[in-house]
Amino acid sequence: MIEIPHIVAHRGASIEAPENTIAAFRVAGARQAKWIECDVTLSADNKCILIHDDTLDRTTNGTGPAYKQPLDTLRDLDAGAWFSDIYKGERIPTLSDTLETLFFMDMGVNLEIKPSGCDPIRLCQEVAAELAHAKAVPILLSSFDDIAVAEIRRLLPDMPCGWLLETLPDDWRDGYAKLGASALHIDHKALDREKAGEIVAANVPLVCYTVNDPDRARELFDWGVTSVITDDPARLIAAIPRHPN
Ligand code: G3P
Ligand code: MG
Repeated sequence: MIEIPHIVAHRGASIEAPENTIAAFRVAGARQAKWIECDVTLSADNKCILIHDDTLDRTTNGTGPAYKQPLDTLRDLDAGAWFSDIYKGERIPTLSDTLETLFFMDMGVNLEIKPSGCDPIRLCQEVAAELAHAKAVPILLSSFDDIAVAEIRRLLPDMPCGWLLETLPDDWRDGYAKLGASALHIDHKALDREKAGEIVAANVPLVCYTVNDPDRARELFDWGVTSVITDDPARLIAAIPRHPN
């Protein structure tokens, strides 16, 4: 099983730099984060790009659905100025740029597969094709989309893939086993000590998002959580420098 670091930088160090950009990944590395989390989807010409939202409006100077624009158009957009003038000129990264950057920074990634309007099967196929040619970077895939989790398990049976949830269903054990997932990723607000204890007792690696408060992170680690995903890796790493479990 892949070793997941205790702190993962959500969309990069997204409290300090524009989310899902190479700048945010570099800042995360500078703050000693070992891994980032980021969101991958497809452009209109089926290239793997990183963006969180369905549309370009919030995080770029473009408008409308990202998946309706070809890569060349997307790469001309500014993905940094919305956050701060310092980051003006930052671009929407491709998956391959991201993996190359992470390789040279000796970092790993929780790559969240986010169809955002595109076909989840095609997205998984394109991600799998890119990963086959990528430099060796530790990768934990995950998705809210059950079709994507099942497809990635089929295409890349040896690559760990987390089942990403907003809430914990009563029959989570069945869903987890059926998908063949290798970690459970859940909104920390959906967890309490008892639910976390059930998951930990079943030897399922437990990853929580999005945790920016060090006291809450300590509580989650106390419950046996494996890893927390945070916008603010500098703050959490300063408060909790080593894996407490
Ligand atoms: O992968 C954890 C977290 O990123 C899931 O939610 O909406 O931030 O992609 P979201
Ligand atoms: Mg995400």
